[in-house]
Amino acid sequence: MAKKNTSSFSLPRCFGAVIFSLCFFLPKSVLGVKQELRFRKNGEFKILQVADMHYGNGKTTSCLDVFPNQMRTCSDLNTTAFVERMIRAENPDFIVFTGDNIFGFDATDAAKSLSAAFQPAIASNIPWAAVLGNHDQESTLSREGVMKHIVGLKNTLSQVNPAEAHIIDGFGNYNLEIGGIKGSQFENKSALNLYFLDSGDYSTVSAIPGYGWIKPSQQLWFQRTSAKLRRAYMRQPEAQKGPAPGLAFFHIPLPEFASFDSSNFTGVRQEGISSASVNSGFFTTMVEAGDVKAVFIGHDHLNDFCGALTGIQLCYAGGFGYHAYGKAGWSRRARVVVASLEKTEQGGWGAVKSIKTWKRLDDEHLTAVDVQVLWSKRHEGVRRKKQVGGSK
Ligand SMILES: *[C@@H]1O[C@H](CO)[C@@H](O)[C@H](O)[C@H]1NC(C)=O
Ligand SMILES: *[C@@H]1O[C@H](CO)[C@@H](O)[C@H](O)[C@H]1NC(C)=O
Ligand SMILES: *[C@@H]1O[C@H](CO)[C@@H](O)[C@H](O)[C@H]1NC(C)=O
Repeated sequence: MAKKNTSSFSLPRCFGAVIFSLCFFLPKSVLGVKQELRFRKNGEFKILQVADMHYGNGKTTSCLDVFPNQMRTCSDLNTTAFVERMIRAENPDFIVFTGDNIFGFDATDAAKSLSAAFQPAIASNIPWAAVLGNHDQESTLSREGVMKHIVGLKNTLSQVNPAEAHIIDGFGNYNLEIGGIKGSQFENKSALNLYFLDSGDYSTVSAIPGYGWIKPSQQLWFQRTSAKLRRAYMRQPEAQKGPAPGLAFFHIPLPEFASFDSSNFTGVRQEGISSASVNSGFFTTMVEAGDVKAVFIGHDHLNDFCGALTGIQLCYAGGFGYHAYGKAGWSRRARVVVASLEKTEQGGWGAVKSIKTWKRLDDEHLTAVDVQVLWSKRHEGVRRKKQVGGSK
């Protein structure tokens, strides 16, 4: 399923850059345009999700929840090594860090810790993006400062906030389009849409305790962006009948993550769902928009499941970092997501056909577990027909 190819990942991603000027090494400012993300020639687009690195100061920062005999040799550098191994094993097209990238309380210099935490992604020359968790701002930078620092790092497609939204809560709300294959009928269309949101840190409303939530201003931006992308996708040429599938990435679980038990999720739940104590309605907003097929978060390190509710898969990645709480004997892990295009009757490439996922454990062989199909175009068609047939 996943390539064990370790030799090709460091090859320049700008093979062909000479022709297309789309070299990933070049910062956005040089190109003057958004760097382009596209499906690969084999019809796939692969994303590596890294949740909760909790990076501190590097080799002087100790590990949490490893066996006592592992403590002496364990530090943030083990987190770095795990990112490097995952990149080598999976050779993803894109890497997403879903918050608590650093554990601010234990980071002496936020800028330094952020740069160190993202270093393996930067060095890989693979485009990457990050959102904020609830711990990223606990060091020497504010949430805005952290996001601004991230945006200045090499090879990142992260944005502080969308230019078109004049008022929006949080820092690190943006979207990215994944283009169809060059030369195919979808070459000018976004075949897959990625949404990134700042799920906040803590409530600032004294009557409401606990974690932050996705605010109405962010939901309005999401709705408008989703509608705009849908219109473009349904426009000529190759006008499509519905929106392209979307994936959403943020940090704190929505209250709806508590809708499952082991009979209807894949993976494990070993702790409670630490969402905000209020429901700000973002799940319903996504259902209404109709394009998002899966949500990927972190925050609860001991949960790594995916469960489907109202046509949307809600997925944890599981804890990644060694300076994050975890469970000795329960491997740190990462999630991989692959979208695959369908072949058209004419032998070209069409729309997204399916979205699959699995996780890899930081053990000797990077064992892959819980391989599952999150969404498939064919099944959605069948479900729609059933609903129509069953209604009065
Ligand atoms: C951390 O990395 C060191 C050095 O490679 C290694 O010896 C140790 O086993 C790792 N610890 C864990 C818990 O993976
Ligand atoms: C995509 O846009 C380019 C530039 O405008 C155009 O030359 C090409 O024909 C378009 N491709 C398709 C499939 O519409
Ligand atoms: C999962 O199954 C439990 C019963 O075991 C049920 O209460 C719950 O509603 C189900 N959740 C979903 C999303 O189907």
